[in-house]
Amino acid sequence: MQIGIERKPLEKADVEALIVLVFEGNREERFGAAPLFDAREIEGKSLELTLIHRPAGAAAKRVLLAGAGKAEKFNTAELRRAVAAAARYLKPKGIKHIALALEGRFADAAWVSAAAEGIILGGFEPDRYKTGNDKRSIESFRVIVAPDAPAGLDEAVEQGRIIAEAQNFTRDLVNEPGNRLTPAKVADAARRMAAEFGLRCEVLEREQMDSLGMGALLGVAQGSAEPPALVVVSYRPAQARNGVHLGLVGKGVTFDTGGISIKPADGMEKMKYDMAGGASMLGAMRALAQLKPPIPVTAFIPCVENMPGGRAQRPGDIVTAMSGKTIEVINTDAEGRLILADALTYARRQGCTHLVDAATLTGAVVVALGHLNVGLFASDAVLRDRVLAAANTEGERMWPMPLEDDYKEVYLKSAFADLPNVGGRWGGAITAAMFLKEFAEDTPWVHLDIAGTAWIDEAKPYTAKGPSGVPVRTLVRLAMDWKD
Ligand code: BES
Ligand code: MN
Ligand code: ZN
Repeated sequence: MQIGIERKPLEKADVEALIVLVFEGNREERFGAAPLFDAREIEGKSLELTLIHRPAGAAAKRVLLAGAGKAEKFNTAELRRAVAAAARYLKPKGIKHIALALEGRFADAAWVSAAAEGIILGGFEPDRYKTGNDKRSIESFRVIVAPDAPAGLDEAVEQGRIIAEAQNFTRDLVNEPGNRLTPAKVADAARRMAAEFGLRCEVLEREQMDSLGMGALLGVAQGSAEPPALVVVSYRPAQARNGVHLGLVGKGVTFDTGGISIKPADGMEKMKYDMAGGASMLGAMRALAQLKPPIPVTAFIPCVENMPGGRAQRPGDIVTAMSGKTIEVINTDAEGRLILADALTYARRQGCTHLVDAATLTGAVVVALGHLNVGLFASDAVLRDRVLAAANTEGERMWPMPLEDDYKEVYLKSAFADLPNVGGRWGGAITAAMFLKEFAEDTPWVHLDIAGTAWIDEAKPYTAKGPSGVPVRTLVRLAMDWKD
């Protein structure tokens, strides 16, 4: 998609469809829209779309009036959604050249970036494996601003493009089925991405994991014919200040059958998205390589397939993690925390001073928060607030959850090892987080449980069904906004 800024009066934008925002209670008088307002056919409500052909007084072939809701409540997240909804409305009609008018205060960097993101995210369709030649795409998108709008808007478009393309890169990976995206294939994708954008990439194989003592990760991997991989992708700034080193750890289970504690057949096909945390880290690194944050960032992605093969680990098995702690595997379906345990230890030993992990870790977080909020667990208030601020700016909703030692005392007890890998029926998202905390130890750490938010079960006006690409934008913002 060609995408850029054009400085001219919006009436002069010569394009197939020009998107114009309309706010609740603001009667639009241009383009012959006034009667539609008077008839209350248009109210300006959020996500309301009205297409006007041969609009009066505009060079565009069509004007798409995009409801933006109440002006006081409008923010960049709303704009991103409105533009994405417009993209999803126009694209199936075969409209290829689209523009958006950003008037007045909206002709500014943050709004322009969000608009660029909206058009790219809205254009995403997980249709790679659909054959046929009726696939449509948007070829160009221009943001129309007044000739005297502030400078720097071209950079803002570019930043938005980088971030949204990274998010779509993640979504494509997440959507890959288990037969096509094995741990080795995640490693290939990471190597390719790293080479394209100038990042370092290293892949640890079974032998190296073995000599490092990663018994928890290897225990999960042993049930599958597919060998595991620990993918490490790193970015270093030209001049690293202070001693900060951000580690991004993402769960990379390319398919989760549950192992010997096998899952029910109904809905199991969705478990291809159990590597969404890992794919988010790769997407974030892809964007950071281009945006160049001030701090070093390394992604660690433990990749395995959780299968009930003849060599699979059994309930009751006791494994020794890289940190030295022993774990009693009560339920082989609680595999994410096992592979993350060793990845967190490895990240610490590699010198990370701050850790953020993302994982489709528990069904329990979906019970607690539904599909609207990421469950956020933090061992450090400063890092928690940084992540929440980044998430808020990016419109990725996250909700702080408790992380208290009592949960470990009450629920995480094993008679035969240091820790069990499950905590029982209650507070499942919290006990999973408490388990991980044992391996993050005293390193400031935030855990994002994205089981409810990484996959969208039903298409919405502004987004396709399937992978959401959460929390790529938050991670990118976190690194980019890092101060001190
Ligand atoms: N990958 C699943 C969690 C999950 C569930 C992700 C639903 C997305 C949607 C994870 O590995 C898992 O199986 N967790 C178990 C833990 C239980 C055995 C303690 C779960 O949530 O049921
Ligand atoms: Mn599982
Ligand atoms: Zn899983």
